[in-house]
This record gives sequence, structure tokens and C-alpha cells, in this order.
Amino acid sequence: MRGRLVAGNWKSNGNLASNQRLLEQVRAEAPRLRGVECAVCVPYPYLFQTQQLLAGTAVAWGGQDVSQFGVGAYTGAVTAAMLLEFGCRYAIVGHSERRGIFGESDAVVAAKFDAALTGGLTPILCVGETLQEREAGVTETVVGRQLDAVIGKAGIAALGKAVVAYEPVWAIGTGKTATPEQAQAVHAFIRGRIAAGDAAVAAELRILYGGSVKAANAAQLFAMRDIDGGLIGGASLAAEEFMAICRAAGTVTV
Ligand code: PGA
Repeated sequence: MRGRLVAGNWKSNGNLASNQRLLEQVRAEAPRLRGVECAVCVPYPYLFQTQQLLAGTAVAWGGQDVSQFGVGAYTGAVTAAMLLEFGCRYAIVGHSERRGIFGESDAVVAAKFDAALTGGLTPILCVGETLQEREAGVTETVVGRQLDAVIGKAGIAALGKAVVAYEPVWAIGTGKTATPEQAQAVHAFIRGRIAAGDAAVAAELRILYGGSVKAANAAQLFAMRDIDGGLIGGASLAAEEFMAICRAAGTVTV
């Protein structure tokens, strides 16, 4: 039985004071969560603070990116080993903002995925189509290509140690959530694509949905058969909203 996961993606938000308030609230609420793992992916400079505040709790944390390289002359890059030293469990790879704004190709994303995994982290691999691609009817072609790049580099078994996040680019930060049916259709495609390589890996793979998830729409999304949780941007910056989303993915106790 695959578990549920709700991960916050803070992006370039936060400061020491606001992080402390947010993490203290998340930490206080987390013990009441049942049937869902909760994680936060924070900016690199705040990993130490996050580790200090979350160590020993049920809340995991991670980076929002990772270098495809090891130690050496790679100015600005942060290695998987560095993330591990700060207690990270996860590293997001291939977020559409990295692909789009920072020009990361499928090959770079695949190399980052591989570096995260071999470095001992659980990659959260983001895939998703733009609005133009959806309207052109090539959603499955694009998502399939993004998955195949990673499978080609790391192998199908590697997906068994990873998390995939389907994030339609048109739904990110726009307030336009994919309908549960739209999301489910792509999640089922992703699981099917992976099942073609290894059915057992596909059955256990956690596939998160991301893109304007909020407390008000989370339960309907998480009710879909192939949606195993969420990757949450804007709504992860407010503790109450974020914890309500976590509760929607799990089973609530009072
Ligand atoms: P959003 O972002 O929840 O603010 O739409 C999701 C993401 O980019 O991971």
C-alpha cells in the first residue's frame, strides 16, 4: 500500500522570523496527522534552521533542487551530500520553474535525479505540460518524454525510490487548478507508463499533484485513485492552510 505525502515547496519565500513561526506551527500540528507524511522543501540557506526546528519530529524536509555534480568547481551548485548533512530526505528536481526560467533540459533533470538518488536523497521529480502543449493535445507526449529521460538515465527501478509530481505548468501559482478528473487522467498515464517497465514499481509509486492546491480543493483531488498527495507552493506558506491540506490527504484525528 503506497503512502500519502504532502510536500511544501516554499520557492524563494521566507525569512528567519517567518520561517520560525511557520515551522513551529507545522511542528505543533503534525502529531495529529494520520496516514500522511508531511514535508517542507525550503531555500538552501534555511536548511540549518529547518533542521534545528524539525529534527526529531514527524515532519521531513528537503531542498528545492540539487546539483547534478559532486564536489568540485561548480560555482553556486549544492550537492546531494551537502543536503544530506542538513538532514534532508527529499530534493525536488525538474520543477517547471527550473526547466523554464533556468533552462534545465530533460537531460539535466535526469542527471539531477540520478545525483539525488545515488546521494541518498528521495527525488521528487516534477513533470507537466504548458497550456500551449495541453491545447495542442500533446500533454502525454510531453510528460512521457520527461519521464523517459529519467528512466533512460537512472533505470526503471530508480523510480521505486522516488516520488513523481504531476504539475501542469498552467496551474502553478495561477489559481487554476486542474480538475480532479484532468489530474487523474495524467496520473493514470504516468502510472501506466511506469507499469510498462515495472508493474510493481508503478503500483507503489507516490504520484503527487501540484498546481494551486488549497484546503478548499485538496480533498477532491486526493480522492482520485492515482493521486497520492500534493506538492504545494503558495498554500504551504500559511501553516493553517498547509496543515489543512495535509489533513485532507490523510485521515483526521482530533
Ligand atoms: P502553487 O505551486 O501551489 O503555488 O501553484 C505549486 C508548485 O509550483 O510546486
